Amino acid sequence: MLNKLVTGTVDWIDARIPMTETWNKHLAQYPTPANFNFWYFFGGLAMLVLVNQILTGIWLTMHYNPSAELAFASVEYIMRDVPYGWLLRYMHSTGASAFFVVIYLHMFRGLIYGSYQKPRELIWIFGMLIFLVLMAEAFMGYLLPWGQMSFWGAQVIISLFGAIPIIGDDLTLWIRGDYVISGATLNRFFALHVIALPLALVALVFLHLIALHEVGSNNPDGIDTKVKKGTASADAKGKFTFHKQYSGKKDIIDSIPFHPYFTVKDIMGVCGFLILFCGVIFFMPEGGGYFLEAPNFEPANGLKTPTHIAPVWYYTPFYAILRAIPDKLIGVMFFGGSIVILFFLPWLDRCKVRSIRYRSWIHKANIAQFIVCFIVLGVLGALPATPLLTMFAQVGTVGYFGFFIALWLYSKNEKTKPLPTRLTFK
Ligand code: HEM
Repeated sequence: MLNKLVTGTVDWIDARIPMTETWNKHLAQYPTPANFNFWYFFGGLAMLVLVNQILTGIWLTMHYNPSAELAFASVEYIMRDVPYGWLLRYMHSTGASAFFVVIYLHMFRGLIYGSYQKPRELIWIFGMLIFLVLMAEAFMGYLLPWGQMSFWGAQVIISLFGAIPIIGDDLTLWIRGDYVISGATLNRFFALHVIALPLALVALVFLHLIALHEVGSNNPDGIDTKVKKGTASADAKGKFTFHKQYSGKKDIIDSIPFHPYFTVKDIMGVCGFLILFCGVIFFMPEGGGYFLEAPNFEPANGLKTPTHIAPVWYYTPFYAILRAIPDKLIGVMFFGGSIVILFFLPWLDRCKVRSIRYRSWIHKANIAQFIVCFIVLGVLGALPATPLLTMFAQVGTVGYFGFFIALWLYSKNEKTKPLPTRLTFK
């Protein structure tokens, strides 16, 4: 009886919108390369964290007050008086850092397996736009608790726009909505943080996945899979045809349906992630002062500058590049350039082979030095600038940009290893 009701309802909907077909095409029977490994957990995890941020954000907004007079107190009220308010807040603040951990690992996967290369350039471009919006989203969210670091962090970053010739001063005024950071700035950042940027993020993730499903996923071997896109998808009624087509074949098939193989595998990734995530929320919600910084437990005070202003850890590699250059305008250009250059990765890498597994030792060494520079810059960006550390940051900056220049130079005539004809399972 219940079964009949469910199938009847599904049929009724399917006759009006392609629900089952879309579900099967983009999820249940999406042909997925069978050799996906650890690095392929992070796209799904990014979606999980996005949902976490949106849901906890909605509940926080119910109790938060976006005014300069009440913002700080309303966050304290959430922490102390709202039932489970502390949990909502820690899920959201830890979620912000988790988002960047997941995204950096997701981008690293793209880098090592050449997932940005033809025909996946647009997936990468949409990914980079997501990354930009995510940075803006986190920056605006950080102003909302209206603590000392919220205030002074925003002060430092917004004043960077002042370095732009001619329009700089007017631009900073326009962004702040006032001559100093004030309630007006808080109000507009709140509006952008809770509605405009999340909408943009969701729209971009949608486009990211549409672009991915048009060309199909890359894989750790970086070769085109033998099973053509769509051969494992369902018919109009959602009937699963994969096994019928391939049973009897002795050789390894390259693509398998997403469900149940990767739904089950991803559950394992989600469990691992949740153990770490809950560990932070329940045992070290401030993340050792990196997820929630100590000065932010003091209300914003425009008359008292903290001794050391540092952005949250996920911005520090780029912040170190900014500080490494003595001239403010050139520093801002390098700061912007360090992000913009990532957009051009698909065209800077001219090698025909995608995966690091079959590329030259020069490429492996180049990626290794890039990662070391990125981490070193990240550490330096969180420390107060001294002449010695600034010198290290300058070396790191050369290594960061050097990665892209070297890649462009050697990738055209790179000596690569022979590619396998079918996926390998290491
Ligand atoms: C909210 C943020 C993001 C979400 C929810 C998201 C989601 C996903 C998902 C679900 C996949 C397919 C599964 C997988 O390959 O892991 C994927 C693939 C991909 N993403 Fe993202 N992504 C995000 C941000 C980014 C960023 C910032 C970049 C890089 C700039 C990026 C680049 C890629 C690439 C190149 C692929 C194809 C990978 C392959 O086929 O090997 N994504 N993304």
